[in-house]
Formats: sequence, structure tokens, C-alpha cells
Amino acid sequence: MSTETLQVELAERSYPIQFSGSHAALKAEVQRLRQAGRKLRVISDARVLDAQPDYLAQAGFRDSEILSHPPGEKTKSIEIFSQSLSYLAGQACGRDCALFAFGGGVIGDLAGYVAASYLRGIDYYQIPTTLLSMVDSSVGGKTGINLPEGKNLVGAFWQPRAVYIDTNLLQTLSAREFAAGMAEVIKYGLLADAQLLADLEASGGLGADAPELPEVVRRCCAIKAQVVSDDEKETAQTGGRALLNLGHTFAHAIENVAGYGTYLHGEAVAIGLVLATRLSVELGQLRTAEIERVENIIAAYRLPIRLKESLRGEDLMLAMQRDKKNRAGKMRFVTLQALGQATTSDGVTPQLVEEIWANA
Ligand SMILES: NC(=O)c1ccc[n+]([C@@H]2O[C@H](COP(=O)([O-])OP(=O)(O)OC[C@H]3O[C@@H](n4cnc5c(N)ncnc54)[C@H](O)[C@@H]3O)[C@@H](O)[C@H]2O)c1
Repeated sequence: MSTETLQVELAERSYPIQFSGSHAALKAEVQRLRQAGRKLRVISDARVLDAQPDYLAQAGFRDSEILSHPPGEKTKSIEIFSQSLSYLAGQACGRDCALFAFGGGVIGDLAGYVAASYLRGIDYYQIPTTLLSMVDSSVGGKTGINLPEGKNLVGAFWQPRAVYIDTNLLQTLSAREFAAGMAEVIKYGLLADAQLLADLEASGGLGADAPELPEVVRRCCAIKAQVVSDDEKETAQTGGRALLNLGHTFAHAIENVAGYGTYLHGEAVAIGLVLATRLSVELGQLRTAEIERVENIIAAYRLPIRLKESLRGEDLMLAMQRDKKNRAGKMRFVTLQALGQATTSDGVTPQLVEEIWANA
């Protein structure tokens, strides 16, 4: 295996994440599949296709093979899921059809779930186009859609055949979406890689054209690949895949109470990371000065460290109690034992959480 690929180790479902040269590797795979007589289809969104009009054609796809959906979270719906399945059926796609997701986390989650469901499962590939989807959603096999009752309530674990990461695609991503992805990058540093955190701090804010970016993305994927290999379905009693939720218990509550769309997910995660750091200080696991360090790193990436406007404490607590990650009715938190080392904490009292929210 070359240094340009990283393997997600899952026995017979192992797959490569391709980094530099990923466009050429994608093209080679498209050719290989065609030579084997396989039908290919792509699911994407209209904004991505507008921003990157030649990328798919240059990889060997035909316009007639692309299904385009509207951009945005609403595309992760039962209706669009159903339309996508009907599209494949209408085109007489068989079991050997290969589906490609070309887009951010919305398209990746939707297309992955379509692939998991159609004919009880067909092959799919991820071509992530946002920073968030490169470092997070395209790797690990969590697929799914939303219900009116809540986000990601329906889905399946379904691993892609390969992931093609090309950070050049980020040149057309908006600055706000790019920053939101950086929140997940900072999360990886905080939970598992103190050196990555220090590098992010020293660079004082990387942009989409930074020469260091491909390596930063690779390091995040390496952490995710390792965690997923160790605990694919998040069943570990402590630690494991749940550690990737650092800051997310707070973030989900913020998104839920503020109303979806007020904060981008990554912006809510940024605030959640500060709150998880504060919680770790309250639990005696970190020194108070470390809050300021984390806040400074997050702020350097033009991300919020506090709520834009205050939200009702009771609503936030209620949203947290409904979080689907809770175990046996208890709120579950990921906290930091050091910057660069996370752990799961079950015994956090509601009073302490209320205090954390009071200072958010
Ligand atoms: N499966 C997982 O493990 C996992 C993990 C984290 C998040 N998610 C999911 O990911 C979703 C969020 O993903 P996202 O942040 O990538 O959002 P997204 O897919 O909505 O993309 C954000 C916006 O950027 C546009 N865009 C994407 N790539 C572009 C490019 N290269 N140039 C110009 N515009 C581009 C899109 O059209 C969209 O408007 C959520 O639904 C979340 O639940 C899943």
C-alpha cells in the first residue's frame, strides 16, 4: 500500500482511502468497472455540480449517469431517498451497479443509504467535496436520512468500496463551510492527536489552499479509520467510536434548540468543543488555562466559541436527554483527560451540565 492511500481495516469489508492522485485513481476505477460491464450511477447535488462542472466527466462519467438533487439538509429525506431508489430501478440497475456519492455529507449519507437498501445492498464509493465529509462522514460507513421527528433517525452501517479524497475540490467551497469542517479537524486534535492540535495552533488558521491541508486531512482520516476499525458499530462499553462525538452532545442540543440552519453543524461543534473542555476542567481532568488555549485555536479558524444568543437552559437540557447516544437513560459525555486524549464519562450530574450551559 502506498503512502497515498490509507486502509480502513474491516476484514473482508476493508477499503482504501485514496489521497494524492485520487482523481487518477478514481478514473482508473471507473474504467475498470466499465470494462467489467458494470453499470455506474452518481448521486450529487446541484451546487456541487455547478461548482465543479468538469470533475466527473474528466473521471470518465457520462452526464446521463448523474442524478442531481437540490443542495441542503432537506435532501436527506424519505422523499428524496425514495426518488433515488426509483431512479435506480427505473434505469434497470442490477446488483452489480456501482453508485458514487459526489458531494458533502448530505449526499454521502443519502447515497450510502440508497446503496445499502437497493436490492439489499450494492457497491458504493465516496467522493467527498466538503472538508467535513473528507475528514468525517465519508469514512466509517454510517449512512442515513432524517425524519421530521429528528436527524439521522433512519440509516444503516454500509461501508464504501473506496473513498477518493481530493482537497483541490475545497477551492470552491464557501469560507463558512470550510470553517465548519475545521471544527471537526480541531476535534480530532483534541481527542487523539496533541501534535495535530499544536500544528493547527502554530499555523494560526489554515485556508483551503494551504499546502499543509492534504496532510492535515490525512491525519484526521487516519484517526477515524483506526477508531472505526476498532469499534465499527459503536458497541464498545467505554471509549471507542463514541469518542468521535467529542463536543457533539452539546452541539446537537444547540442545533436542535436554536433551530436547524441557525448554526452550521461545525459551528455548533466548535461551541460544543469549548463546553466539553469546560466540563473536563470542572471534572478536575484539565487545568483552567486549557480552556483559553482551546478557545484561541477555535477562534483562529473563524469559528464561534460562544452561543450567538442565549438559549433556554431547560430546552437545552431536554434536548440532551433525548439524544440518541444516551445509554440506559443516562446522559453520556466525551471529556478530555488531556488535550489530545479523550474518554467517555457517564457519571456527569445534570446540575453540572446546567452550570456549563449557564456559561455558554
Ligand atoms: N455519516 C457520518 O458519519 C456523518 C458524520 C458527520 C456528519 N454527517 C452528516 O453530514 C451532513 C453535513 O455534511 P456537509 O457539512 O458536508 O454539508 P452538505 O453536504 O450540505 O454541503 C454543504 C454545502 O456545500 C456545498 N458544496 C459541497 N461541496 C462543495 C464544493 N466543493 N464546492 C462548492 N460547494 C460545495 C453543498 O452543495 C452544500 O450546499 C449532515 O447531514 C450530517 O448529519 C454524517
